[in-house]
Amino acid sequence: MDAVKVGLLGLGTVGGGTATVLTRNAEEIQARLGRAIKITHAAGLGIDSQTILDPATTKLTEDAFEVVNDPEVEIVVELIGGYTLAKDLVLKAIENGKHVVTANKALIAIHGPEIMKAAAEQGVSVCYEAAVAGGIPIIKAMREGLAANKIQWIAGIINGTGNFILTEMRDKGRDFADVLKEAQELGYAEADPTFDVEGIDAAHKLTILASLAFGIELQFDKAYTEGISKITAEDVSYAGELGYRIKHLGITRKTDKGIELRVHPTLIPKKRLIANVDGVMNAVLVYGDAVGPTLYYGAGAGAEPTASAVVADIIDAARTIDAPLHHKVPLLGFQDDAMRDTPILSIDDVETAYYLRMEAADKPGVLAEVSDTFAKNNISIEAVLQKEPATGENSVHLIMLTQKCVESSVNHAIQAVENLSSVQGGVVRIRMEHLD
Ligand code: HSE
Repeated sequence: MDAVKVGLLGLGTVGGGTATVLTRNAEEIQARLGRAIKITHAAGLGIDSQTILDPATTKLTEDAFEVVNDPEVEIVVELIGGYTLAKDLVLKAIENGKHVVTANKALIAIHGPEIMKAAAEQGVSVCYEAAVAGGIPIIKAMREGLAANKIQWIAGIINGTGNFILTEMRDKGRDFADVLKEAQELGYAEADPTFDVEGIDAAHKLTILASLAFGIELQFDKAYTEGISKITAEDVSYAGELGYRIKHLGITRKTDKGIELRVHPTLIPKKRLIANVDGVMNAVLVYGDAVGPTLYYGAGAGAEPTASAVVADIIDAARTIDAPLHHKVPLLGFQDDAMRDTPILSIDDVETAYYLRMEAADKPGVLAEVSDTFAKNNISIEAVLQKEPATGENSVHLIMLTQKCVESSVNHAIQAVENLSSVQGGVVRIRMEHLD
């Protein structure tokens, strides 16, 4: 059979990795697919100086539209990132009847509905395995491997840069900016690294996972997002003393009231496997009613791990290139007419436990006063840690772990505690999950 003809958009970290993997593993891939895969046309900036592709076998251009309009190309692989140009290119490729593979989580999370509608009308595939958790085949696991289950919740470390930063800060006492710079040099970080540290990148990925889990539309605008830039070394250390680690988690959970969709720093028990996922590694913990908890672990960023997912998608798209749409796995895992309109809950309605740290006067009765204020707001305290005052200081760090409660009630309680004359400054609040 003829080789599958691929048009590649973007020759950066992931584009280069994809070309490398397709070349190095050509024999293995052909043995699995039954056809060779050739990059016949590629677009990238500075294409003349690139050394990844052979101009004798691949047409090279700086104009990505030349690739999506090339009648010979069957599968367009979009690896340029961003929303605007990427969206125009993908929609043009679909209009031209080409299958699309993309690693672009922002594009899917935000413009997914429009792209998938266009793809359904044209009868082409849109594959996006590399968009979530890099090399971990979590999209395939959710859409196919777990198809028998009612998914109850997902908790994931789905941003490698953020996890790398938190790990280096905890283990080596390095400072935030220094570790972030290294993540950028290693090609892990987004073009705008605030996407990594403020949780936007994780929220893009979580939006996709929630859709696959619960059969709901992609609703990035309803995701609650909180970053890691305010996490202090003190909180990391106190959490450790109490038996927890702080991880930047994406959490989505189906409740009686609706679906939780939230990204924020989270205390989780040290003994959970996912608490021990360090560095740039990602992990996604999925709880299905039949299977129970399952954990998927691997590299969430980097050239070849992401290329692993991109190439798997090219193989998938190539296998069903001529198949009618109803023979393919639905793009979001559920049939279009079976999608649900379950509401996404506001963060105020989310129920979770909390780590609260405050600076309190070091005098008799303060602990009782603070505990009483929480009790009056119906918040149960599970554990308390009081630190010795620093030399010459007359205030102490008081750390309280609450039981599960609704976010709006903890907000009221925090306000009341902050109004106590024995408490100085604000209360630091970090959400806490037991993941059991
Ligand atoms: N910036 C992302 C991360 C890349 O650090 O996880 C992979 O999506």
